[in-house]
Amino acid sequence: MCSDIFEQRNVFLDQIVAERRSHRVFRPEAPPEDEIRRILHAGLLAPFAAAAVGDSKDYFRRFFVMRNGSRSMKAVIPLVREQVAAMAQDIERKMEDDPVLRAKAVTFVQRLAAIRKMGVVPGVGTAPWYIVVAERRGFPPVELQSLAHCMENMWLKATALGLGFQLVSVTSQMSPDPEFCRVLGIPAGEWELMGCAIGYPADDLPPSIRPPVEDVTCWLE
Ligand SMILES: Cc1cc2nc3c(=O)[nH]c(=O)nc-3n(C[C@H](O)[C@H](O)[C@H](O)COP(=O)(O)O)c2cc1C
Repeated sequence: MCSDIFEQRNVFLDQIVAERRSHRVFRPEAPPEDEIRRILHAGLLAPFAAAAVGDSKDYFRRFFVMRNGSRSMKAVIPLVREQVAAMAQDIERKMEDDPVLRAKAVTFVQRLAAIRKMGVVPGVGTAPWYIVVAERRGFPPVELQSLAHCMENMWLKATALGLGFQLVSVTSQMSPDPEFCRVLGIPAGEWELMGCAIGYPADDLPPSIRPPVEDVTCWLE
């Protein structure tokens, strides 16, 4: 009896995990705020590095929700675009005298060039909601790992609600930007950031293709 319940729970969990995809094209209508709240709640339930954040009275994880077309969204769009341009210039300059970096970063630089050409940073102003999650810097500095757990919980919850989710990882580059942090109302440099875009997906995507577990697993003696 008990194992039946666990089986049933796992049928749903496995389905949600398998259906989780990166959606990059969204319908214009916005999912209701209540669904966004449920996604944020799932993010709050994600693990955090208790020893690293210490016992600050001020909660160490924050969510900033921006609706497409809002004042805050209009303010951050050019800031993120400028950051992408600055990153591209910086990497290209470093690549000139570093052949190892040149080989390693080629795909990423091409991606940045494509974004600059489009003039739009995917996920920032291209979906009904852009959400920034902030995690206070602690010691050791594991905020980005912590944010990844938070994002995964949010991603799975969005999937379970039938919503599309896109990570917007350039958001992490915005943490030292005073203008971006002013829009959020936090001091620059004290928080690490990660972002995502959420909306109704424009298309149904098939489940991800991954190698069989046995092909990538070593059972060590
Ligand atoms: C650390 C990290 C950063 C990522 N950043 C972005 C991003 O900025 N924009 C984006 O569209 N997808 C981003 N992705 C999503 C991956 O491209 C995606 O998960 C991968 O291509 C597999 O596709 P799937 O999510 O549909 O299974 C990121 C994923 C990870 C783990």
